[in-house]
Amino acid sequence: MSFDTMTDRRCTSSVKWNPSAITNICNNPDAEPFWVADMDFAVPPEAHAEAKALAEHGIFGYPIATDEKTIFASFVETRHGMTINESELSISPGVLSSISLSVELLSMEGDGVIVPLPAYAPFMRIVKLHNRTLIPWPMTHDSKRHTFTLDWAYLETIVDQAKLLIFCSPHNPTGIVFSEEELVRVAQICKARNVAIISDEIHADLSFKPFVSMHTVARSLNANTVTCMAPSKTFNIAGEHYSVTLFTDASLKQAFEKRLRQLWMTRPASYVTALVQVSYAKGLPWLEELLTYLNDNAVFITDYLARHLPELAFLKPDASFIGLIDAGRIMKLIEADAEANPDLYDPETSPDGSMLSRFLGQRARVACSAGTWFGGDAYASFIRFNFGTQRARIEAAFDRIKTAIRFLKETYPLSDEQDAR
Ligand SMILES: Cc1ncc(COP(=O)(O)O)c(C=O)c1O
Repeated sequence: MSFDTMTDRRCTSSVKWNPSAITNICNNPDAEPFWVADMDFAVPPEAHAEAKALAEHGIFGYPIATDEKTIFASFVETRHGMTINESELSISPGVLSSISLSVELLSMEGDGVIVPLPAYAPFMRIVKLHNRTLIPWPMTHDSKRHTFTLDWAYLETIVDQAKLLIFCSPHNPTGIVFSEEELVRVAQICKARNVAIISDEIHADLSFKPFVSMHTVARSLNANTVTCMAPSKTFNIAGEHYSVTLFTDASLKQAFEKRLRQLWMTRPASYVTALVQVSYAKGLPWLEELLTYLNDNAVFITDYLARHLPELAFLKPDASFIGLIDAGRIMKLIEADAEANPDLYDPETSPDGSMLSRFLGQRARVACSAGTWFGGDAYASFIRFNFGTQRARIEAAFDRIKTAIRFLKETYPLSDEQDAR
């Protein structure tokens, strides 16, 4: 298959391509989407054939999946060299519902939950929805080297107030794949203070470098951890809601499964049952090709910015198809544009956007996730760019961004000078 093939998704119910959802982040319904974390690629051909056969069959009764745990265990062994016992894992209907349920089981109202920042916004929402206390753990940002790193000293100052840590590796939105040493350090600190860990590893299979799971580390240290993996990003079936939850504590796994039964959330739907089994069993060659294409996209963006757009910096991720772009150097120009054109930058019509995402939406017809969505104003100069799409679309988008930035520089020369100082 060619990942360069363009498929029109506007004719489907894709939220990523929906004009009013796009307006919500950037004020322009016609902006091309580079936001929601799914990819513009068809699933592995074997999985596609299975889904087509099911559609042709035309009957969508209750499915059964008898060997899904075996298939998953074999996949992670091949993909990551990771050994898991089937008795450690539960099949669940999505990573966020599994995280939410684990928060409920591992903490009480008012308890502190540490979340590294920037963070995938639903983590913070889950903490608040359960009336837990959000304890932000801001990562250290080096604005010259364009890196984020864990702030160990700060963790020591907050860990005693917490019952739980929601970790994420590969990290959304920075794209960092944390090293084994870092995972060990997190697990040791948490274990010493009796803080449980929820580790979201939904992007793990898309890692460009060797990936170590928190589950493996925590198991060897006997630290209480719930690890969430899934085929959704791996094989681009995120709309199908399926995840795999791994436990280091058997009694917690029992409590988790009991809660799933109480809520009657146990049975997978028919399409996902077909898609997941075939993808895990036969999708690895497709996944390898995908990883090459995604990494090449990331390299393409890095090169493009270096050659044509030095005003922007791409924080090339270690995994997956989302990466942060730092626009700190042009924020003053964008502020000037927003001041001169308040109607283009109306926050009321794009409540989930930022000044930067509105600028890109209005002036470059590019819709990206606002950095502010990942933790507030501290991340206002960032956007998260989804490059899980055809390279030609990416190139055209950056050509438009280049024109938009040239327009800013020509229109607000004074601010540009101020910015340069
Ligand atoms: C880090 C992370 N966790 C969870 C999810 C959503 O998972 P699910 O759809 O299985 O609830 C996403 C989707 O973008 C994500 O990036």
